Amino acid sequence: MTGDFVIAVDGPAASGKGTVATRLGRELGLPVLDTGLLYRAVGVLTERAGDDPDDAGHATAVALLLTADQLEDPALRTRAAGELASRVAVHPRVRAALLDFQRTFALQPGGAILDGRDIGTVICPDAPAKLYVTATPDVRAERRWKQLRGQGEDVAYEDVLADIRRRDARDGSRDAAPMRPADDAALLETTEMTIEQAADAARRIVEAARARWEKSRQG
Ligand code: C5P
Repeated sequence: MTGDFVIAVDGPAASGKGTVATRLGRELGLPVLDTGLLYRAVGVLTERAGDDPDDAGHATAVALLLTADQLEDPALRTRAAGELASRVAVHPRVRAALLDFQRTFALQPGGAILDGRDIGTVICPDAPAKLYVTATPDVRAERRWKQLRGQGEDVAYEDVLADIRRRDARDGSRDAAPMRPADDAALLETTEMTIEQAADAARRIVEAARARWEKSRQG
């Protein structure tokens, strides 16, 4: 796959990857795709249709018909949607159905940023810049808990931590595109970092990657 400058930002839930991707997008003037929303939409729409998210056929039928405007639904940001997303994301046919949407986004002129779990390994293995953003489960749970409370969801911290651990285990152990850093990804550990520090570190990684990429294109 060739294209303009593509930045792959992967990592587990609430690691800070979404914030990092959004900031990079703003600073570099690049469009950002939160690929988690695709899986969230498939999970939520499958359930809304009264179908079983654990059934590959049902979830794939929804994934094949997914459109960009369906990603705007605020219901996709809920705790329940995250769990449904992780359940439909284990089906290889669902992942295959969502591939073209992601690759088309990545290949747009000028470049793009995609955040998810398998961007650097499967969706854009040739991306010139790859980050894998992590933090401890406790810190991620606290971030997600605050975010959910801010959205008006009344949920206990312990339950959010249990969600995060369950999703990490499912996303990391599935056969289809398991969550893992690409061999050539730069690791960004954000446990002790503020948002500003994480964004600064990401910017430095991307600037170095861009310099290497430009040099390789000249040579
Ligand atoms: O990033 P977010 O928490 O919104 O992702 C929700 C779920 O969607 C993840 O737990 C994972 O199971 C799935 N996902 C995936 N591959 C991606 C993005 C998300 O499997 N590229």
